[in-house]
Amino acid sequence: MADQKIYQASTTAPVNIAVVKYWGKRDAKLNLPTNSSISVTLSQADLRTHTTAACSASFPTSDSLLLNSSPQDVTGARTQACFRELRSLRAALEASDSSLPKLSALPLKIVSENNFPTAAGLASSAAGFAALVRAIANLYDLSSSPTELSRIARQGSGSACRSLFGGYVAWQMGTKDDGSDSLAVEVAPASHWPTMRALILVASAKQKKVSSTSGMQTTVATSELFQRRAEVVVPKHMEEMEKAIKEKDFEAFGKLRLFWFGVKWNISLTWSSDVSWAAVGVVEDINRKAGKIVAAYTFDAGPNAVIYYEEANTDIVAGVVKGALGSVSGWESQDIKAQASDVLDAADVEVLNKGITRVILTQVGEGPIRTEESLI
Ligand code: DP6
Repeated sequence: MADQKIYQASTTAPVNIAVVKYWGKRDAKLNLPTNSSISVTLSQADLRTHTTAACSASFPTSDSLLLNSSPQDVTGARTQACFRELRSLRAALEASDSSLPKLSALPLKIVSENNFPTAAGLASSAAGFAALVRAIANLYDLSSSPTELSRIARQGSGSACRSLFGGYVAWQMGTKDDGSDSLAVEVAPASHWPTMRALILVASAKQKKVSSTSGMQTTVATSELFQRRAEVVVPKHMEEMEKAIKEKDFEAFGKLRLFWFGVKWNISLTWSSDVSWAAVGVVEDINRKAGKIVAAYTFDAGPNAVIYYEEANTDIVAGVVKGALGSVSGWESQDIKAQASDVLDAADVEVLNKGITRVILTQVGEGPIRTEESLI
C-alpha cells in the first residue's frame, strides 16, 4: 500500500511594520518593488500567524488552505507561486537523494491562525505568507536561508519577505528582471536595540477598502513626485535609517518618520484619513512637548497608526496617549501610567476617541519560530 503517512511541520511568523515603506511595483507579478524598504519586526506575543503545513497521499488531491477556520482560495497566482517554488526546491532534494519521501508530489494542507484581525491592515498578509513559506520549507526539510526564502515569500506578498527575520530588516529592491536579487536581509537583530516599543492605534477591524496593490498602482499612475521618491528620496532614507538603527539613534530614526510622499499617498489614497491624521497630530504634539523626537509614527497597509518609542519614554509617549484614550481597550495588557494629556490637540483627541477601537502595546521581536504545536 502507498505511504498514507501525514507529514507535517509548524511555525509561527511575525508582523512587520515598515519605517521606510515599499510603495510601487516594477513587476506586479513577481512583486518587485520600485524602492528598497526597512521594517521593524514586532513581537509575536502580540501579533503572529501560526501555521501548520502538512502533506499526505491520504489528503484530497488538491492543495488547501484554512485561515482562522475558513477555507481560502489557493488558486491565485501569489499562493501558487509560493507552492511551485517550494515544491521545486523539494523536488531537487528528492532527485539528489532517492531515499527521501516524495513529498513534492503530495497535496498540501495548510492550516493557519492569526491572533489579530485579518486584513485590518495589520500586515496580516506579511505574517501569513512568511508563515506559509517557512512552514512548508520546514515540512520539506529545506536548508534554504531566510534570505533565500524571502525571494519566495515576496511573491506571496511583497512585505512578507521581511517577516522571515526578527529585529530590523531591509528588503533590497534588486535590479534583475527575474527578481533573484530582490531579497530581505537582517539590518540588526532584535537584541541589538531591544528597547524599541510600538503602540498600535487600531482604527477599524473592518477589511480595508483598497488593496495595497491597487493603491500603489494608482500612485504610480497619478503622482509626478513618485519617481523622485523612488530614485532620490528612498535611497537616501535607506542609508540614514540603517545608520540610525546601527547607532540606536532614535532621533535620527524618528526624523525619517514622515516618509513623506509614501505616508501622504497612503493616507489620502488608500484609507479613511481623519483618524490617521489625528494620530500624526498627537505624535507631533508629544514631540513638541518633549522638545525632541521621542515618538515616531508610521502606518501599516491600513489606517492604523503605529507609534514607535523607546522604553525609557513610555510615560511621555504611551502614558500621554493613555491619558487621552484611556477608555479604549488594550491598555490592560501592560502597566502604563496614564499621564496628563493636555498637551494634545483636543480635536485630535476627539477624532481618535471616536475612531480608535483598541490599542496594541508591543515591541520589536523575533523572526519565525518553529513549533511542535500542530493545528491539524
Ligand atoms: C504600505 O506587501 O501588502 O505596508 O505586495 O501587493 O501584497 P503586496 O503589498 P503589501 O504592501 C505593503 C505596503 C505597505 C508598505 C510596506 O510594508 O513597506
